[in-house]
Amino acid sequence: MNFVILGKPGAGKGSICEEFKKNNLIHLSTGDIFRREIASQSELGLLANSYIRKGNLVPDEVTNDIIKKILVENPNKDYIFDGYPRTINQAQALKKNMDDLGIELDAVINLIVDDDLVIERLSSRRVCKECGAIYNTRNHNPKVEGVCDKCGGEVITRADDKIEAIKERLNVYNNQTAPLIDYYIKEGLIMNVDGSLDTIDLYQVVMKNLNERKSLSSSNL
Ligand code: AP5
Repeated sequence: MNFVILGKPGAGKGSICEEFKKNNLIHLSTGDIFRREIASQSELGLLANSYIRKGNLVPDEVTNDIIKKILVENPNKDYIFDGYPRTINQAQALKKNMDDLGIELDAVINLIVDDDLVIERLSSRRVCKECGAIYNTRNHNPKVEGVCDKCGGEVITRADDKIEAIKERLNVYNNQTAPLIDYYIKEGLIMNVDGSLDTIDLYQVVMKNLNERKSLSSSNL
């Protein structure tokens, strides 16, 4: 099964994907890919950082090429696309690349949250510098302060979680990513879910919806 997790910054895309990874799905997060490149100070990382730190999107051509390469190298896996696509151009590129490889997109899960919750969550988010594990000073701290429970890496605040960058990311979402909701409604793939639910409850609701969709599509065969 292949699906996209769509939602505002801070909607909880990365957090729910940590639950999905337990089902052997491959978590493909363009944000994580760029952060790894930034950490290794690669050419791509330097380019990506010039956009990300201001809250802007990395150009479509760059992002589309990364995803295409991964899909071409591993076409027979089950993917969760987190943070990709983020523009109509990216959605069209994903469709073409998947069609060319005979892969089907099964659903687009749209996590709905309001802007106040986004700001509250992102200004209290902390992440592991090494493995990307997600924490929050309000309700999910690592057992030892500043140390990741999963890998022992350093837990830090993301550079784009400053209030100015959060506001710009919300603008970018409204202008460039929100139109994807209509795009995927027309494709018959959207599944709206309340992103303010607790992560475990949210995961159960999404799994139930995905399983219903799966059994519906097999009964249609
Ligand atoms: P990316 O890393 O994808 O950032 P984002 O979309 O802004 O989303 P976030 O990672 O900030 O939030 P999230 O929804 O994953 O929330 P999380 O689970 O962490 O991208 C970063 C940047 O890279 C972009 O701005 C762009 O520049 C670039 N980029 C990436 N993809 C690109 C693309 N396709 N094209 C071009 N550029 C691209 O949760 C947030 C906090 O809330 C956490 O602290 C968490 O603990 C807490 N929380 C989450 N869910 C819950 C819950 N249900 N209940 C309580 N707390 C919760």
